[in-house]
Amino acid sequence: MAYQVIIPAAGQGKRMEAGKNKVLLELNDLPILIHTLNVFQMDKACDGILLAINPEEEEEMKMLLEENQITKILAFVPGGKERQYSIHNALKQVKKDGIVLVHDAARPFVDKELFRPLIEAAENKGAAIFAVPVKDTIKKAAGDIVAETVERTSLWAVQTPQAFRISILKEAYQKAEEEDFLGTDDASLVERLGQEVVIVKGNYDNIKLTTPEDLYFAEAIIRKREQRL
Ligand code: CTP
Ligand code: MG
Repeated sequence: MAYQVIIPAAGQGKRMEAGKNKVLLELNDLPILIHTLNVFQMDKACDGILLAINPEEEEEMKMLLEENQITKILAFVPGGKERQYSIHNALKQVKKDGIVLVHDAARPFVDKELFRPLIEAAENKGAAIFAVPVKDTIKKAAGDIVAETVERTSLWAVQTPQAFRISILKEAYQKAEEEDFLGTDDASLVERLGQEVVIVKGNYDNIKLTTPEDLYFAEAIIRKREQRL
């Protein structure tokens, strides 16, 4: 069950329009980044964290980690221009074999109680991702004219963490680099190897904080969790 986790936090948060990296915005008096790191700090199965950061934010982030007793960081890795490059930089620092998770710093509501089936699927089959069934009807369009209504029962909205055997993820990233392929998630690189990727049903709370209105949803999720305590 043990794993290491790569957490990309080196984005600019442009769509959040906050004028700074969104993972440094606070929810309930704690930066989003700390909410996310706390999940892995508290998970006994997590052996260590590789954090991809913008070097200009290194000092600020290191201070936050110290203040919040985040002690599991194995390496701070400089981020790249795209998420994929940030993760590749971190992956190069992963030495041991075993299982690696990739999880966006911008998803603070991930539930570690759901990790077991994800990690077991990665151990058994090589690659596994969290996803939830799509709720909206999705249509393909040509310009603003509908081309096709896509059959919804086979559609999944993909999340992180995504879990991999380290050797498989390294091979996938190597191949993507050689072929100049840029994917929108980690599994898409692994799929190009012909490797099967298992879908594990996640939780609709595990949203990625992307645009300003996501912060309202975040407040609601926090309130719901506080009422449950
Ligand atoms: N990320 C990263 N390096 C990049 C781009 C993104 O490490 N070059 C990280 C972000 O910090 C975030 C995660 O990848 O935790 C998911 O990316 P996204 O939600 O797109 O965040 P941003 O790129 O920061 O936002 P935007 O695309 O709106 O600028
Ligand atoms: Mg981005």
